[in-house]
Amino acid sequence: MTRRTWMRAVGAAVLVGGLLGTIAWLPMQQARPIPITMYKSPTCGCCGAWGDHMKANGFAVTVKDEENMSAIKTDVGVPGRLQSCHTAVVEGYVVEGHVPADLVKKLLAEKPRVVGIAVPGMPVGSPGMEQGNARQPYDVVTWDAQGRTTVYAKR
Ligand code: CU
Ligand code: CU
Repeated sequence: MTRRTWMRAVGAAVLVGGLLGTIAWLPMQQARPIPITMYKSPTCGCCGAWGDHMKANGFAVTVKDEENMSAIKTDVGVPGRLQSCHTAVVEGYVVEGHVPADLVKKLLAEKPRVVGIAVPGMPVGSPGMEQGNARQPYDVVTWDAQGRTTVYAKR
């Protein structure tokens, strides 16, 4: 083996080692699902679909079937005008309705001083409310302890 081929071999080994290291590292970054507890009526189909959307996007969803959803919403402080079907709690924030997973992650990263984030009603095309290609534009809003709302994103 000449010095040059030996150097090439070392270079290739370093490159392969680096790639393997990166490949091993990537899933570790994606791992560790974020625990979220979701309350829903036992008969709600779109709620289950939203739970699946969250699971597919890095959340560990604990589902609690509740007969009296309005009591849950009152307990965690969802203003009446922001209410939807299911109510979830993640890292101290309330998530009301069909909020897209990426916005829940953004909220958890930014940690604004709000009580929660909501998609009021059940807009067609929001996660868990898919109906073919139909989509109804909607606002994703946060609310604070005084009940003041802010548009967090438009979808
Ligand atoms: Cu729903
Ligand atoms: Cu729901």
